[in-house]
Amino acid sequence: MKYDLVITHIDRLLSLAGDPDRGLRGEEMEQSIEIEDAAIAIKDGRIAFVGKTNTLFEREIIEAEQTINARGKSVLPGFIDAHTHLPFYGWRGGEVARGRGKTYGNVIQGGGGIKVSIKEMEEASDVDILQFTNDLLDHIHTWGTTTVEMKSGYSSNVEGELRELHLIQKIKENSPVDIIPTCLAAHDVPEGYTSSEWINEVINDLLPEVAEKKLARMTDIYIEPFTFNISDARKFAEASRSLGLIPRAHSDQVHNIGGCKEAVLLEFSSADHLNQITEEEMQMLAKSNTAAGMLPGADFTMREKHLPPARKLIDSGALVVLSSNYNPGTSPVGAMPVIIGFACALYDWTPKEAIAAATINAAVSLGIGKDRGSIEVGKAADILILKDNLYEMLPYRMGSNPISMVIKDGIITKN
Ligand code: NIG
Repeated sequence: MKYDLVITHIDRLLSLAGDPDRGLRGEEMEQSIEIEDAAIAIKDGRIAFVGKTNTLFEREIIEAEQTINARGKSVLPGFIDAHTHLPFYGWRGGEVARGRGKTYGNVIQGGGGIKVSIKEMEEASDVDILQFTNDLLDHIHTWGTTTVEMKSGYSSNVEGELRELHLIQKIKENSPVDIIPTCLAAHDVPEGYTSSEWINEVINDLLPEVAEKKLARMTDIYIEPFTFNISDARKFAEASRSLGLIPRAHSDQVHNIGGCKEAVLLEFSSADHLNQITEEEMQMLAKSNTAAGMLPGADFTMREKHLPPARKLIDSGALVVLSSNYNPGTSPVGAMPVIIGFACALYDWTPKEAIAAATINAAVSLGIGKDRGSIEVGKAADILILKDNLYEMLPYRMGSNPISMVIKDGIITKN
């Protein structure tokens, strides 16, 4: 066969092959296979061969448009960032500096937080938001992200939410990174509303249009005493599902009001943050298909003293996902290698566990596990060639970009 691209002599290839519906769990994460002196052959954007270099050469006479010799390098699947707050407009560095030693709840009560970004978003023009966000996407792609989840949620009315979701569609048209949109209309309660009034408006006036125009695949709700409660979450999730939208949540970041438990019972695709969950909730998660979304960028930025039980979540067998939570308040870092570094340092994860959580498990949580997240025959060729043969360099040399080449759908997009 004539291939489009063949990569040979890869020192160490981490394929992260795993069950496309269940992901890698517990010890499977650390034990996932590694192939030495490996090769990958790509045809029409898909992986046509993965295995030992000599097996490929013994099998056939190789013809390829382009060949790369990856001796001295390691290769991984592209990163899948399953939780970001892109698009946003402007930074809130001052707030984070002032908030040092305070909880995120204190920051919000002090007039900081989400409402500041809502104002900035609402005052900015579409052109400015697109330019700002495209630059950030280019940056994260350079650092290895090939698929990213993006959310609305920086709006104070239905029109603003629709505007954000339409902007995401615009960004999708030209982005080198695949984008999976989420409607986070339940992020902040607008002035003049109770949480229940706002949820009713979202259910009646927003979600039907989002579903009809296919503006999002998922919905998201922030469950906290100062935002949305369990009864809001139930109503929101039921309405989402009835329209074919998959619910997920931010829960137990600052307080535990039962968000994680509810997310598991209602079969949310993901419950993210989880700083305050109990042992019982951790066991519930472990038996479920609801992903445990770990966001160490926020734990690091907020100098969080109460970390989620991230080590125990892996050990108990939960579907653990690692994401950047890229946002201008709690997590201004979008580069996944740095997020992997944070996870290893703060959560006592191994590099391989963190990479599995940021690739195959992230794909499973977004419902794209059959297509992406690992280097397996038939899957999309989203591949990273590192500068070094040690993928362990990712958490070790934090701040230095470890990526030599990004291949997206079989095309070299960063070199
Ligand atoms: O996931 N917790 C809620 N949302 C974000 C913060 C967004 C912001 O502060 O702008 C988070 O940490």
